[in-house]
Amino acid sequence: MTPIKSPLAPRADAADLLKDTDLRGRTAVVTGGASGLGVETVRALLGAGARVIMPVRDTARGEQVARDLAQETGNSDVHVLHLDLGSLASVRQAAAAILAAAPRIHILINNAGVMATPQGLTADGFETQFGTNHLGHFQLTRLLMPALLAAAPARVVALSSSAHRLSDIRWDDPNFQTTPYDPWQAYGQSKTANALFAVELSRRYGLQGVTANAVHPGGIMTGLQKHMPEGEAQRRGWIDENGVPNPAFKTPAQGASTSVWAATAPELNGVGGLFLEDLQQSTPLDGANPSPLFGYRPHALDADSARRLWTLSEELIEQTGQ
Ligand SMILES: NC(=O)c1ccc[n+]([C@@H]2O[C@H](COP(=O)([O-])OP(=O)(O)OC[C@H]3O[C@@H](n4cnc5c(N)ncnc54)[C@H](OP(=O)(O)O)[C@@H]3O)[C@@H](O)[C@H]2O)c1
Repeated sequence: MTPIKSPLAPRADAADLLKDTDLRGRTAVVTGGASGLGVETVRALLGAGARVIMPVRDTARGEQVARDLAQETGNSDVHVLHLDLGSLASVRQAAAAILAAAPRIHILINNAGVMATPQGLTADGFETQFGTNHLGHFQLTRLLMPALLAAAPARVVALSSSAHRLSDIRWDDPNFQTTPYDPWQAYGQSKTANALFAVELSRRYGLQGVTANAVHPGGIMTGLQKHMPEGEAQRRGWIDENGVPNPAFKTPAQGASTSVWAATAPELNGVGGLFLEDLQQSTPLDGANPSPLFGYRPHALDADSARRLWTLSEELIEQTGQ
């Protein structure tokens, strides 16, 4: 089967992608909209006329970004509320506020995330990255499902990463309780979880008109790298000695485009459970595609793992009593 592709070049800006798209009457929820790719995602959606809800951890920064974007796009239908994905109580509160404001949600972009954090636990005792990147969004999406179903066809976008290659789900020890902590394995696991979540959500809700796809946005220098030790970005070749990003890296506006494509493209109508990057359906890494830059490891889209992770996530959340 030919992979699904956008007609635009892989490095198109998110706003260019929506230049001819009318999202008036559509409601989008974008987590982590106060920085990095989130800002550019919200900018593009507002520019196309959508109503945008921004659940953010830092509401003062979120309000400032919302004001700036409203002024730039001429669309002031943008609303900020508090969400800490590292606390299931906060997720519940945020979901209730979102549902009260938006009984129908057409687009949910699970964009917020942390990378390579020092070892730590969320408020509910989960490893920081698994808890924040996966379980927080898992629970938020489940709680928002009535509004997504009410708006169907509706789309969920799960920000994954090429870093999913670093780890499958650590079934025996997802929270690093019995094995030494590794910040990159933990990030990799959480990004595999984001992709598997899209697969199982589409299986469960696709026939009712709610689909989800996973997105690797590319490499982009944003606030995400803040937990990397000084010099690591240079050693990895992400930036040069002057702090200039490697030419293979994208700008935040380019980095937001695959999310926005996943959320709106007509060529993805009714399509879920894919891994998307560079404005196209990705391909599995195997002998035919050994690229270090493009492609997904099959563990990220494995249907059995996706079901198993959904059940595990439900059980883990249930055990917290939240
Ligand atoms: N940049 C890349 O190269 C790259 C590559 C692959 C995948 N991604 C993925 O793309 C997404 C966006 O990343 P980005 O590059 O735009 O990074 P970013 O600039 O650091 O933005 C991440 C956002 O997530 C928010 N966030 C973190 N923890 C949170 C929590 N507990 N509750 C609520 N919000 C929280 C952050 O808020 P605070 O500022 O308050 O922490 C921030 O607004 C992430 O999911 C990331 O894994 C990025």
